[in-house]
Amino acid sequence: MNMIDRYKNVRQRTEMICEPLQTEDYVVQPVIDVSPPKWHLGHTTWFFETFILMPHAHAYEVYDPDYNYVFNSYYETVGKRVIRTDRGNLSRPTVHDIYRYRAYVDEAMFSLLSMEINQEIRDLVILGCNHEEQHQELLYTDIKYILGHNPLFPAYDVHYHPPISEKEDSATFIGIDEGIYEIGFQGDGFCFDNELGRHKVYLNSFEICSDLVSNAEYLGFIEDGGYQDFRYWHAEGWDWVKANNIKAPLYWHLVDDEWYHYTYHGLETLHFNEPVRHVSYFEAYAYASWKGFRLPTEFEWEVAASQFTWGKNWEWTESAYLPYPGFARAPGAIGEYNGKFMVNQKVLRGASEVTSPGHSRISYRNFFQTNLRWQFTGIRLAK
Ligand SMILES: [Fe+2]
Repeated sequence: MNMIDRYKNVRQRTEMICEPLQTEDYVVQPVIDVSPPKWHLGHTTWFFETFILMPHAHAYEVYDPDYNYVFNSYYETVGKRVIRTDRGNLSRPTVHDIYRYRAYVDEAMFSLLSMEINQEIRDLVILGCNHEEQHQELLYTDIKYILGHNPLFPAYDVHYHPPISEKEDSATFIGIDEGIYEIGFQGDGFCFDNELGRHKVYLNSFEICSDLVSNAEYLGFIEDGGYQDFRYWHAEGWDWVKANNIKAPLYWHLVDDEWYHYTYHGLETLHFNEPVRHVSYFEAYAYASWKGFRLPTEFEWEVAASQFTWGKNWEWTESAYLPYPGFARAPGAIGEYNGKFMVNQKVLRGASEVTSPGHSRISYRNFFQTNLRWQFTGIRLAK
């Protein structure tokens, strides 16, 4: 695929995800982690404008110099920005303005990409596309949070079709021998810097489950009093359960003794055979403890992944998000992309039903703080 088509496809897909929204849905920010959809639309556009058009497109005129302040996410190199909690207070620029901004930047990108571009620009465009694709998943999860926390539980799209994700009947533990294994990205395609530094690790023999924990199985933990028994939890997890009165995964509701969960179709009775999702690392750990098992490390996951199906949920691992040997931050603002987040987070492996095409790699390292659960996060057991 040529660069123009690659760029165009990414930009169109983002807008396709937003198509079912009403204008008001674009604006709200119910919690700090959930950004308003219109902010994602502006920020991904700002990324192309700031890192590609401004330095590399001859005579490019910035669309609006004030947008740097509202659409810079976390790049200290690029200057001051609106604090994250205030993204939902931005009634301006309007949704309409932001779509116009997108069209303006797209035009400039098309004319840049229609010329001969060097490898540096090419790499930045590929990074920009991958960046926007990561925000596409965030759009899906943030929209779910926005609508799923509205007391009317509106559907996002009644025509939304998730891939089939029923639990396999024959879930079994797969044995992996002890030995020295290679970890990290290899190949010619795109990867993020945090996947680089292919290196060897020694693993003891272990077993890993061929499938994810289902809603029905997780319900067993709830009904057995898992949320009331400190023995299954880390101290920090137990504090989190008590402080937030946690009793079930995010989006679960007990109505007249029957469990429901919010989906893109609205509130529905719990789908028992689907993999459990929207659990925090704390809950994943507690469930595994209750069951007498544990979570896999990210290395165990990567070594075993060719032997099971994955891609239904991001899977919490027992690994801290750390740099691989030889990891180096890129110079300049782009070096802020991944490296500065390598503290106090856990790695998740796999991909989810709302992960953008091309982001499912055996070496892909997602990462979140241990209490977060608005992503499609689930549990695979190991022992
Ligand atoms: Fe971003």
